[in-house]
Amino acid sequence: MFQRKAGDQLRTTAHLAEFDEMTTHDFEQRLDSDASTRTLASSPQSYRYENGRRYHAYRDGSYWGPNDEKDVYHQTVTHHLFYRTLDDRMLLAPVTDPRNVLDIGTGVGLWAVNFADAHPEARVTGTDLSPLWENPVQPNLRFQVDDCCSEWTYLEELRERFDVIHMRCLYGSVADWNQLYRRCFEHLIPGGYIEQAEMSIIPHSCNGPLPHASIFRQWECFWRKCGVLTGKSWLISETMKESIEEAGFVDVCERRFKWPIGMWSSDPKLQEIGRWYREFWESGMEGWVMALGTRCLGWTASQARAFVEETRKALSDETNRVYFELVVVYGRRPDHFRPHTSCYEHRRTQSQP
Ligand SMILES: C[S@@+](CC[C@H](N)C(=O)[O-])C[C@H]1O[C@@H](n2cnc3c(N)ncnc32)[C@H](O)[C@@H]1O
Repeated sequence: MFQRKAGDQLRTTAHLAEFDEMTTHDFEQRLDSDASTRTLASSPQSYRYENGRRYHAYRDGSYWGPNDEKDVYHQTVTHHLFYRTLDDRMLLAPVTDPRNVLDIGTGVGLWAVNFADAHPEARVTGTDLSPLWENPVQPNLRFQVDDCCSEWTYLEELRERFDVIHMRCLYGSVADWNQLYRRCFEHLIPGGYIEQAEMSIIPHSCNGPLPHASIFRQWECFWRKCGVLTGKSWLISETMKESIEEAGFVDVCERRFKWPIGMWSSDPKLQEIGRWYREFWESGMEGWVMALGTRCLGWTASQARAFVEETRKALSDETNRVYFELVVVYGRRPDHFRPHTSCYEHRRTQSQP
Protein backbone atom coordinates (compact mmCIF):
# COMPACT_ATOMS: atom_id res chain seq x y z
CA MET A 1 0.00 0.00 0.00
CA PHE A 2 2.96 2.30 -0.30
CA GLN A 3 1.57 4.53 -3.03
CA ARG A 4 -1.37 5.48 -0.90
CA LYS A 5 0.95 6.17 2.00
CA ALA A 6 3.20 8.29 -0.15
CA GLY A 7 0.21 10.29 -1.33
CA ASP A 8 -1.40 10.42 2.08
CA GLN A 9 1.78 11.76 3.56
CA LEU A 10 1.32 14.93 1.59
CA ARG A 11 -2.30 15.36 2.41
CA THR A 12 -2.14 16.55 6.00
CA THR A 13 0.20 18.94 7.74
CA ALA A 14 1.02 16.33 10.36
CA HIS A 15 2.05 13.90 7.68
CA LEU A 16 4.05 16.60 5.95
CA ALA A 17 6.18 17.03 9.04
CA GLU A 18 6.84 13.28 9.11
CA PHE A 19 7.64 13.22 5.42
CA ASP A 20 9.88 16.22 5.87
CA GLU A 21 12.19 14.11 7.99
CA MET A 22 12.47 11.26 5.47
CA THR A 23 15.47 10.82 3.20
CA THR A 24 16.01 8.47 0.28
CA HIS A 25 17.80 6.08 2.64
CA ASP A 26 14.88 6.08 5.12
CA PHE A 27 12.49 5.47 2.29
CA GLU A 28 14.42 2.49 0.93
CA GLN A 29 14.61 0.96 4.41
CA ARG A 30 10.90 1.47 4.75
CA LEU A 31 10.26 -0.24 1.44
CA ASP A 32 12.28 -3.23 2.59
CA SER A 33 10.25 -3.53 5.76
CA ASP A 34 7.06 -2.95 3.79
CA ALA A 35 7.67 -5.58 1.12
CA SER A 36 4.68 -7.76 1.94
CA THR A 37 2.21 -4.93 1.42
CA ARG A 38 3.56 -3.39 -1.77
CA THR A 39 1.09 -2.90 -4.54
CA LEU A 40 3.39 -1.96 -7.36
CA ALA A 41 4.57 -5.49 -8.02
CA SER A 42 2.62 -6.70 -11.01
CA SER A 43 3.08 -9.43 -13.55
CA PRO A 44 6.61 -9.13 -14.94
CA GLN A 45 5.32 -9.15 -18.52
CA SER A 46 3.55 -5.84 -17.87
CA TYR A 47 6.83 -3.97 -17.52
CA ARG A 48 10.32 -3.71 -18.91
CA TYR A 49 13.08 -4.40 -16.36
CA GLU A 50 16.53 -3.03 -17.12
CA ASN A 51 19.65 -2.33 -15.05
CA GLY A 52 17.77 -2.71 -11.80
CA ARG A 53 14.94 -0.33 -12.71
CA ARG A 54 11.42 -0.93 -13.99
CA TYR A 55 9.85 0.86 -17.00
CA HIS A 56 6.43 1.15 -18.56
CA ALA A 57 5.45 -1.38 -21.23
CA TYR A 58 2.47 0.36 -22.85
CA ARG A 59 4.08 2.28 -25.76
CA ASP A 60 7.34 0.68 -24.58
CA GLY A 61 10.34 2.99 -24.74
CA SER A 62 8.42 6.16 -25.49
CA TYR A 63 9.08 7.59 -22.02
CA TRP A 64 12.55 7.77 -20.52
CA GLY A 65 11.88 7.48 -16.78
CA PRO A 66 11.41 4.43 -14.57
CA ASN A 67 8.06 3.65 -12.97
CA ASP A 68 9.18 1.67 -9.94
CA GLU A 69 8.93 2.28 -6.22
CA LYS A 70 12.04 4.47 -6.13
CA ASP A 71 10.32 6.64 -8.73
CA VAL A 72 7.15 6.76 -6.65
CA TYR A 73 9.25 8.27 -3.86
CA HIS A 74 10.90 10.66 -6.32
CA GLN A 75 7.50 11.79 -7.61
CA THR A 76 6.37 12.32 -4.03
CA VAL A 77 9.36 14.59 -3.42
CA THR A 78 8.65 16.33 -6.74
CA HIS A 79 5.08 17.01 -5.80
CA HIS A 80 6.06 18.50 -2.47
CA LEU A 81 8.76 20.65 -4.10
CA PHE A 82 6.25 22.14 -6.54
CA TYR A 83 3.58 22.52 -3.91
CA ARG A 84 5.84 24.46 -1.54
CA THR A 85 7.31 26.53 -4.37
CA LEU A 86 3.82 27.69 -5.30
CA ASP A 87 3.03 28.53 -1.64
CA ASP A 88 0.83 25.47 -1.20
CA ARG A 89 -1.18 26.18 -4.31
CA MET A 90 -2.02 23.62 -6.95
CA LEU A 91 -2.42 26.19 -9.75
CA LEU A 92 -1.35 29.74 -10.46
CA ALA A 93 -4.05 30.33 -13.09
CA PRO A 94 -6.97 32.42 -11.77
CA VAL A 95 -9.41 29.52 -11.77
CA THR A 96 -12.37 30.10 -9.50
CA ASP A 97 -14.90 27.31 -9.81
CA PRO A 98 -13.29 24.32 -11.56
CA ARG A 99 -15.77 21.67 -12.66
CA ASN A 100 -13.84 19.36 -14.95
CA VAL A 101 -10.06 19.09 -14.64
CA LEU A 102 -7.47 17.03 -16.55
CA ASP A 103 -3.92 16.26 -15.37
CA ILE A 104 -1.84 14.93 -18.28
CA GLY A 105 1.12 12.67 -17.41
CA THR A 106 -0.19 12.45 -13.87
CA GLY A 107 2.41 9.86 -12.75
CA VAL A 108 1.50 8.60 -9.29
CA GLY A 109 -1.35 11.08 -9.40
CA LEU A 110 -0.53 13.19 -6.34
CA TRP A 111 -1.48 16.48 -8.00
CA ALA A 112 -4.79 14.96 -9.13
CA VAL A 113 -5.46 13.44 -5.68
CA ASN A 114 -4.72 16.74 -3.95
CA PHE A 115 -6.78 18.72 -6.42
CA ALA A 116 -9.73 16.35 -6.07
CA ASP A 117 -9.50 16.63 -2.28
CA ALA A 118 -9.35 20.42 -2.38
CA HIS A 119 -12.20 20.70 -4.91
CA PRO A 120 -14.82 18.06 -4.13
CA GLU A 121 -17.18 19.80 -6.56
CA ALA A 122 -14.74 19.24 -9.46
CA ARG A 123 -14.38 16.05 -11.48
CA VAL A 124 -10.65 15.32 -11.83
CA THR A 125 -9.09 13.00 -14.42
CA GLY A 126 -5.43 11.93 -14.40
CA THR A 127 -3.92 10.21 -17.44
CA ASP A 128 -0.56 8.54 -17.94
CA LEU A 129 1.24 5.81 -19.88
CA SER A 130 1.85 3.98 -16.58
CA PRO A 131 -0.94 3.06 -14.17
CA LEU A 132 1.06 4.01 -11.09
CA TRP A 133 -1.91 5.18 -9.09
CA GLU A 134 -4.12 3.24 -6.73
CA ASN A 135 -7.86 3.09 -7.24
CA PRO A 136 -8.99 6.49 -6.05
CA VAL A 137 -11.05 6.75 -2.92
CA GLN A 138 -12.49 10.11 -3.91
CA PRO A 139 -15.68 9.79 -5.97
CA ASN A 140 -14.67 12.84 -8.03
CA LEU A 141 -11.34 11.36 -9.20
CA ARG A 142 -10.55 8.90 -11.98
CA PHE A 143 -7.36 7.73 -13.66
CA GLN A 144 -6.92 6.45 -17.18
CA VAL A 145 -4.00 4.94 -19.09
CA ASP A 146 -3.58 7.13 -22.12
CA ASP A 147 -0.84 8.37 -24.45
CA CYS A 148 -1.25 12.13 -24.66
CA CYS A 149 0.66 12.14 -27.93
CA SER A 150 -1.90 9.94 -29.67
CA GLU A 151 -5.47 10.92 -30.36
CA TRP A 152 -7.33 11.36 -27.09
CA THR A 153 -9.77 8.73 -28.19
CA TYR A 154 -11.82 8.12 -25.09
CA LEU A 155 -12.06 11.82 -24.31
CA GLU A 156 -12.93 12.63 -27.89
CA GLU A 157 -15.56 9.90 -28.00
CA LEU A 158 -17.08 11.41 -24.87
CA ARG A 159 -16.63 14.82 -26.43
CA GLU A 160 -15.38 15.81 -23.04
CA ARG A 161 -14.37 19.41 -22.35
CA PHE A 162 -12.35 20.64 -19.37
CA ASP A 163 -12.10 23.95 -17.63
CA VAL A 164 -8.51 23.25 -16.51
CA ILE A 165 -5.77 21.18 -18.15
CA HIS A 166 -2.62 20.78 -16.08
CA MET A 167 0.80 19.39 -17.08
CA ARG A 168 3.97 19.11 -15.06
CA CYS A 169 7.45 17.71 -15.79
CA LEU A 170 6.68 16.46 -19.28
CA TYR A 171 10.03 17.60 -20.66
CA GLY A 172 11.63 14.93 -22.84
CA SER A 173 8.25 13.20 -23.26
CA VAL A 174 6.61 14.91 -26.22
CA ALA A 175 7.83 15.24 -29.81
CA ASP A 176 5.15 17.59 -31.10
CA TRP A 177 4.21 20.17 -28.48
CA ASN A 178 2.22 22.25 -30.95
CA GLN A 179 -0.08 19.31 -31.57
CA LEU A 180 -0.47 18.68 -27.84
CA TYR A 181 -1.30 22.32 -27.12
CA ARG A 182 -3.83 22.29 -29.95
CA ARG A 183 -5.46 19.22 -28.41
CA CYS A 184 -5.56 20.99 -25.05
CA PHE A 185 -7.16 24.00 -26.72
CA GLU A 186 -9.80 21.77 -28.31
CA HIS A 187 -10.58 20.03 -25.05
CA LEU A 188 -10.96 23.20 -23.00
CA ILE A 189 -14.19 25.09 -22.73
CA PRO A 190 -14.00 28.75 -23.83
CA GLY A 191 -12.57 30.58 -20.81
CA GLY A 192 -10.82 27.40 -19.61
CA TYR A 193 -7.15 27.42 -18.58
CA ILE A 194 -4.05 25.46 -19.54
CA GLU A 195 -1.23 25.43 -16.98
CA GLN A 196 2.17 23.84 -17.39
CA ALA A 197 5.16 23.72 -15.05
CA GLU A 198 8.61 22.66 -16.28
CA MET A 199 12.12 22.84 -14.87
CA SER A 200 14.82 24.48 -16.95
CA ILE A 201 17.81 22.21 -17.61
CA ILE A 202 20.18 25.19 -17.76
CA PRO A 203 22.21 25.54 -14.54
CA HIS A 204 23.15 28.87 -12.98
CA SER A 205 25.41 29.83 -10.11
CA CYS A 206 25.30 32.89 -7.90
CA ASN A 207 29.12 32.80 -8.09
CA GLY A 208 29.09 33.62 -11.83
CA PRO A 209 29.17 31.51 -15.00
CA LEU A 210 29.60 27.79 -14.34
CA PRO A 211 32.67 26.27 -16.01
CA HIS A 212 32.01 23.75 -18.79
CA ALA A 213 33.62 21.04 -16.65
CA SER A 214 30.95 21.51 -13.98
CA ILE A 215 28.87 18.36 -13.58
CA PHE A 216 25.74 20.47 -13.86
CA ARG A 217 26.86 21.73 -17.28
CA GLN A 218 27.48 18.09 -18.20
CA TRP A 219 23.89 17.36 -17.22
CA GLU A 220 22.71 20.17 -19.47
CA CYS A 221 24.76 18.67 -22.29
CA PHE A 222 23.32 15.22 -21.48
CA TRP A 223 19.72 16.46 -21.74
CA ARG A 224 20.43 18.42 -24.90
CA LYS A 225 22.00 15.38 -26.60
CA CYS A 226 19.20 13.07 -25.50
CA GLY A 227 16.65 15.57 -26.79
CA VAL A 228 18.26 15.53 -30.22
CA LEU A 229 18.56 11.72 -30.27
CA THR A 230 15.03 11.00 -29.06
CA GLY A 231 13.39 13.87 -30.94
CA LYS A 232 11.79 14.98 -27.64
CA SER A 233 13.45 18.09 -26.27
CA TRP A 234 14.10 18.89 -22.61
CA LEU A 235 14.25 22.63 -23.38
CA ILE A 236 10.55 23.14 -22.77
CA SER A 237 10.54 25.85 -20.12
CA GLU A 238 12.33 28.08 -22.62
CA THR A 239 9.70 27.72 -25.36
CA MET A 240 6.39 26.89 -23.75
CA LYS A 241 5.06 30.43 -23.32
CA GLU A 242 5.47 31.18 -27.00
CA SER A 243 4.10 27.79 -28.08
CA ILE A 244 1.06 28.16 -25.83
CA GLU A 245 0.39 31.59 -27.30
CA GLU A 246 0.79 30.19 -30.81
CA ALA A 247 -1.84 27.56 -30.04
CA GLY A 248 -4.33 30.41 -29.57
CA PHE A 249 -4.34 30.91 -25.79
CA VAL A 250 -4.61 34.47 -24.51
CA ASP A 251 -3.57 36.30 -21.35
CA VAL A 252 -0.61 33.94 -21.22
CA CYS A 253 1.49 34.51 -18.08
CA GLU A 254 4.91 33.15 -17.21
CA ARG A 255 6.29 32.95 -13.67
CA ARG A 256 9.87 31.95 -12.82
CA PHE A 257 11.05 30.49 -9.52
CA LYS A 258 14.58 29.86 -8.29
CA TRP A 259 15.41 26.33 -7.19
CA PRO A 260 18.75 26.36 -5.32
CA ILE A 261 20.46 23.01 -4.81
CA GLY A 262 20.91 22.72 -1.05
CA MET A 263 20.47 25.18 1.76
CA TRP A 264 23.02 27.84 0.81
CA SER A 265 20.51 30.67 0.33
CA SER A 266 20.05 33.22 3.11
CA ASP A 267 16.31 33.31 2.35
CA PRO A 268 14.47 30.86 4.66
CA LYS A 269 11.92 29.96 1.97
CA LEU A 270 14.69 29.22 -0.53
CA GLN A 271 16.50 27.18 2.11
CA GLU A 272 13.44 24.99 2.45
CA ILE A 273 13.06 24.72 -1.33
CA GLY A 274 16.77 24.01 -1.68
CA ARG A 275 16.57 21.12 0.75
CA TRP A 276 13.73 19.59 -1.23
CA TYR A 277 15.40 20.31 -4.54
CA ARG A 278 18.55 18.52 -3.44
CA GLU A 279 16.40 15.54 -2.45
CA PHE A 280 14.73 15.79 -5.87
CA TRP A 281 18.16 15.27 -7.45
CA GLU A 282 19.26 12.60 -4.98
CA SER A 283 16.12 10.56 -5.47
CA GLY A 284 15.75 11.14 -9.20
CA MET A 285 19.12 11.23 -10.91
CA GLU A 286 19.77 7.50 -11.27
CA GLY A 287 16.37 7.17 -12.94
CA TRP A 288 17.04 10.16 -15.22
CA VAL A 289 20.34 8.84 -16.46
CA MET A 290 20.01 5.08 -16.60
CA ALA A 291 17.68 4.45 -19.54
CA LEU A 292 18.72 7.52 -21.50
CA GLY A 293 22.44 6.96 -20.94
CA THR A 294 22.37 3.28 -21.87
CA ARG A 295 19.71 3.37 -24.59
CA CYS A 296 20.59 6.68 -26.29
CA LEU A 297 24.22 7.44 -25.54
CA GLY A 298 25.63 3.91 -25.49
CA TRP A 299 26.83 4.15 -21.89
CA THR A 300 27.21 1.07 -19.72
CA ALA A 301 25.18 0.90 -16.52
CA SER A 302 28.46 1.41 -14.59
CA GLN A 303 29.20 4.59 -16.51
CA ALA A 304 25.70 5.85 -15.72
CA ARG A 305 26.23 5.06 -12.02
CA ALA A 306 29.63 6.79 -12.05
CA PHE A 307 27.96 9.93 -13.45
CA VAL A 308 25.44 9.76 -10.62
CA GLU A 309 28.20 9.37 -8.03
CA GLU A 310 30.09 12.37 -9.39
CA THR A 311 26.88 14.38 -9.24
CA ARG A 312 26.24 13.25 -5.67
CA LYS A 313 29.58 14.77 -4.62
CA ALA A 314 28.75 18.06 -6.36
CA LEU A 315 25.32 18.16 -4.70
CA SER A 316 26.94 18.18 -1.28
CA ASP A 317 29.27 21.07 -2.16
CA GLU A 318 27.12 24.09 -1.44
CA THR A 319 29.92 26.55 -2.16
CA ASN A 320 28.96 26.18 -5.85
CA ARG A 321 25.69 28.03 -5.08
CA VAL A 322 24.02 26.36 -8.04
CA TYR A 323 20.38 26.86 -8.90
CA PHE A 324 17.97 26.01 -11.69
CA GLU A 325 14.69 27.66 -12.58
CA LEU A 326 11.16 26.37 -12.46
CA VAL A 327 8.92 28.00 -15.05
CA VAL A 328 5.12 28.01 -14.81
CA VAL A 329 3.01 29.19 -17.73
CA TYR A 330 -0.75 29.50 -17.85
CA GLY A 331 -3.14 30.83 -20.47
CA ARG A 332 -6.84 31.06 -21.22
CA ARG A 333 -8.79 29.74 -24.13
CA PRO A 334 -10.58 32.79 -25.50
CA ASP A 335 -14.31 32.83 -25.94
CA HIS A 336 -14.29 33.28 -29.71
CA PHE A 337 -11.12 32.52 -31.59
CA ARG A 338 -10.08 29.51 -33.60
CA PRO A 339 -6.67 30.15 -35.09
CA HIS A 340 -6.11 26.59 -36.23
CA THR A 341 -8.03 23.64 -37.56
CA SER A 342 -9.71 21.79 -34.72
CA CYS A 343 -8.82 18.14 -34.07
CA TYR A 344 -12.36 17.22 -35.01
CA GLU A 345 -12.44 19.31 -38.15
CA HIS A 346 -9.03 17.99 -39.12
CA ARG A 347 -10.14 14.37 -38.74
CA ARG A 348 -13.39 15.01 -40.59
CA THR A 349 -11.43 16.57 -43.44
CA GLN A 350 -9.01 13.65 -43.48
CA SER A 351 -11.74 11.01 -43.56
CA GLN A 352 -13.53 12.67 -46.46
CA PRO A 353 -12.74 11.14 -49.85
C1 LIG B 1 8.51 13.19 -14.70
S1 LIG B 1 6.97 12.34 -14.53
C2 LIG B 1 5.93 13.62 -13.87
C3 LIG B 1 4.72 13.09 -13.16
C4 LIG B 1 3.79 14.17 -12.60
N1 LIG B 1 3.25 15.01 -13.65
C5 LIG B 1 4.50 15.03 -11.59
O1 LIG B 1 4.76 16.20 -11.86
O2 LIG B 1 4.80 14.52 -10.50
C6 LIG B 1 6.40 12.31 -16.22
C7 LIG B 1 5.18 11.45 -16.37
O3 LIG B 1 4.70 11.64 -17.70
C8 LIG B 1 4.25 10.39 -18.17
N2 LIG B 1 4.26 10.42 -19.63
C9 LIG B 1 5.34 10.49 -20.44
N3 LIG B 1 4.96 10.47 -21.74
C10 LIG B 1 3.61 10.38 -21.74
C11 LIG B 1 2.64 10.29 -22.77
N4 LIG B 1 2.98 10.28 -24.05
N5 LIG B 1 1.33 10.20 -22.42
C12 LIG B 1 0.97 10.19 -21.10
N6 LIG B 1 1.85 10.26 -20.08
C13 LIG B 1 3.16 10.35 -20.40
C14 LIG B 1 5.24 9.40 -17.60
O4 LIG B 1 4.73 8.07 -17.61
C15 LIG B 1 5.44 9.96 -16.21
O5 LIG B 1 4.56 9.40 -15.28
